[in-house]
Amino acid sequence: MSHNRYDLKSLIKKYDTPLMLFDQDVFESRLGEIEAALGKVCGDFRIYYAAKAFFNTGLGKLLNKLGLYLDASSYGEIYVALKSGFDPARINYHGHNKKEEELRLALKAGVATVTVDSIEELATIQSIARDLGRVQEILIRVNPGVSVHTDEKIRTGCSDSKFGIPYERIESVFVDLKKYPNLKFVGLHCHVGSQIFETAPYLEAAQRLFDLFLKAHREGFPVRLFNLGGGFGITYKDETPFPTEELTRVASFVKEKAQKSGIQMPVLCFEPGRFLAGPSGTTLYTIGTIKEVPQRTYLSVDGGLFENPRPALYGAVYDAYVLERGPDAEKAMSYRVCGRTCESDVLIPEIKLAKARVGDHLVVSNTGAYNYSMSSNYNQYPRPAVVLLHDGKDGLLVAREEYEDLTRKDQTPDWLA
Ligand SMILES: Cc1ncc(COP(=O)(O)O)c(C=O)c1O
Repeated sequence: MSHNRYDLKSLIKKYDTPLMLFDQDVFESRLGEIEAALGKVCGDFRIYYAAKAFFNTGLGKLLNKLGLYLDASSYGEIYVALKSGFDPARINYHGHNKKEEELRLALKAGVATVTVDSIEELATIQSIARDLGRVQEILIRVNPGVSVHTDEKIRTGCSDSKFGIPYERIESVFVDLKKYPNLKFVGLHCHVGSQIFETAPYLEAAQRLFDLFLKAHREGFPVRLFNLGGGFGITYKDETPFPTEELTRVASFVKEKAQKSGIQMPVLCFEPGRFLAGPSGTTLYTIGTIKEVPQRTYLSVDGGLFENPRPALYGAVYDAYVLERGPDAEKAMSYRVCGRTCESDVLIPEIKLAKARVGDHLVVSNTGAYNYSMSSNYNQYPRPAVVLLHDGKDGLLVAREEYEDLTRKDQTPDWLA
């Protein structure tokens, strides 16, 4: 976040803590990096923002304004997008194990494309499209069987994965497709995983996808969309981020292959979520308790597992500083930062910080992706507010939940009434 442009203490006074800030200017500049790298090689490319990283109606409006496409992994994400006025002609419906009624709602809403994740889905979409009297454009999600060095829980393109159709089965799908007159096969998709720092997995996936792309053309399907998914890694603590300029290399690789094969350069598509949303987010907490035990010092903040489950889920790491001492103060103390919920709820197992006092605030960066979107009301904590920052201005993107929100859906069976 461009910290120096905002007075974090006034934002805390205005909105209270825990508070997530989402910096639109960071989001736009990171999008610009990807666009610049691809623009060097591709005349036509598409960036689908992966809504799962962080999404709401305000963000939908911003994405629409920026001309982005949307990668929706559930009908719920499509619903939010439509509520925000997002153009369905720029939505791709992804998702594993989609239900018939969800597909029907998506097709009725007019989503541009559906990425087919299983062989069973083909017949379901065919039947809905026929009922609706239309032809639905589809992509086939291929499991490319590419191994990447990332946490097992966010590795999705290796052969042992529930996502996509195994590489070896795709050619038989081309044959099946001929039985489905209401499906128009327009592209291939794969996603190798998340938090990826090297170019090699993308090149490997591009090679495998291109071979199928060519086979599809030979089978009489002039497919155009070549979607390599998301996954660009970001810095949480000291990781070297995915070098976006390398996307030029990936694009050139595909272009050369197309030229050599005598087919038109496909429309290269990517689906970044974390890369755009992660560094746009910063979470502000109030430090409520500092407790020394023989082994360490626990510093407890007013958030935790309910608003950021990532450390508990897969050991995600974060960097932080004490607002009142500033980001550059000498980090003289070692702390374990924990949240308020039951379970051990450790947000940062060990971090050096400037000496903190109760009532100070902790600034945790890179919290924009998969934090709020994976939050819950565990222990019945209301979710924090999210504030959008842009050009020195701040405005609510999501209001802080109230206690009434916690019982909004509760019902009383008649024998308890
Ligand atoms: C199909 C697909 N596309 C895109 C993404 C976004 O990944 P990331 O946020 O790492 O860019 C994911 C993440 O799980 C995904 O499954």
